Amino acid sequence: MAKEDNMPVSQRLVEIKVGASAPSEEELKARFGRDIFRDFDVNDQGFNDHMVEALDLQAQHCPVAHSKVGEGYFWLTRNDDVRRVGQDWRTFSNAKGYMPNRPEGMPYIYPIEMDPPKQTAWREVLNPLMAPKVVDSFEDAIRADVNALIDRFIDKGHCEFISEFGVILPGWAFFKNSLGVPVELLGDLVHSIERSLFGPLDERSAQLSRAFVLLDQYLKQRAKEPPRGDMVDTILAGVTYEDGTPASWQDKLGIAADMTLGGIGTTTYVLGSVLHYLAMHPADRKTLTDNPAMMPNAVEEFVRMFPPVIGSGRNCTRDVEVAGTQMKKGDWVLLAWAASSRDAGVVDNPHTLDITRPNVMHTTFGVGPHRCVGSNMARIELRVSFEEWLKRIPEFSLKPGTEPTYETSQLRSMSSLHLVW
Ligand code: HEM
Repeated sequence: MAKEDNMPVSQRLVEIKVGASAPSEEELKARFGRDIFRDFDVNDQGFNDHMVEALDLQAQHCPVAHSKVGEGYFWLTRNDDVRRVGQDWRTFSNAKGYMPNRPEGMPYIYPIEMDPPKQTAWREVLNPLMAPKVVDSFEDAIRADVNALIDRFIDKGHCEFISEFGVILPGWAFFKNSLGVPVELLGDLVHSIERSLFGPLDERSAQLSRAFVLLDQYLKQRAKEPPRGDMVDTILAGVTYEDGTPASWQDKLGIAADMTLGGIGTTTYVLGSVLHYLAMHPADRKTLTDNPAMMPNAVEEFVRMFPPVIGSGRNCTRDVEVAGTQMKKGDWVLLAWAASSRDAGVVDNPHTLDITRPNVMHTTFGVGPHRCVGSNMARIELRVSFEEWLKRIPEFSLKPGTEPTYETSQLRSMSSLHLVW
């Protein structure tokens, strides 16, 4: 028994509770290539190909799924469990990072891979820079950039939306208006961040390290210059932790890296998914074109349905039970934000995208102390992009013979979407 206690969760005998009417192990393997209840893998191609169906089956039948990959992890899918665990940072810690099976040498990014009170010290200086009033003041500039991008391709009657709009707009919006890192660095940063999230597992660490090198060089240069009043200045000024120690250079670099990753690695998926959805749903397209005032509510429903952060990891600081499953100190548990926004226990008809849904409830931006610092920025990028697109290209469709392509890990992105008008 003592021996069993020291085993990683992937090798321990774990009893996974599955509902009576759930698909069998054989049925799951036939559909997804593996048993997504008892041996789930967030990086698996089968999950990428059938993500929504997999999340729905898990949310419906298996509140705590299990992974045997590497050291293993638990995968929480029910809304109330995800919310409770997300708030209890003392038991479910980020100090070992947000990913299980962390590739060797992967640099740490902050504030996501810190616990309070260190994380709180950073949020106190970052939150004011991303507050609704501040972000609202960027609206005209973002709108101008949305139009500048559309100008580039509107006359040709088609575009590959992801490379021509989806990966560019979030970087422009955040770097130009808030962060202060020059847009000339965006190409390299987007490539490295994207590959660090979705590339081959053994290349992810080197790719994130490349982004760190680029940011390190830029921050060092800026440290020699007078302040400009942007987020880079706030990061360079740093914070003092509760014990009186000042944030280290590595902490500052980690903050710049997480802000960059959040700023450019997430919104693209929602932009692409919504354009795909609107291309396929002319009635909603017309409703939103004719009634732009409905857009803010529609954006909430879009982020509920198309969440780019699929699941975030926490490490147990003590033995604990969640939804009847025993977890041990040191075990990894992932909060499946994407599944918990589709939990029929809290959302009526969760599988239906309804732009008129009142009081949209979702966990797409996370729950608890790490709740997304960039949510206001993301919302404005999304709203303004859809408003301008529908004004200028109200009729469009998917290029015949094509389908969007996706990449999935703990995050999800769209890699291509061909539109015609
Ligand atoms: C639709 C777009 C976005 C989604 C769905 C999203 C989602 C999330 C989620 C789920 C978390 C919490 C992760 C956890 O608890 O482990 C998070 C944290 C974070 N997000 Fe976002 N995000 C988005 C856009 C952005 C943008 C635009 C930025 C920056 C400009 C950003 C920066 C961050 C940062 C820095 C954190 C870590 C906060 C902390 O640990 O205190 N995100 N985001």
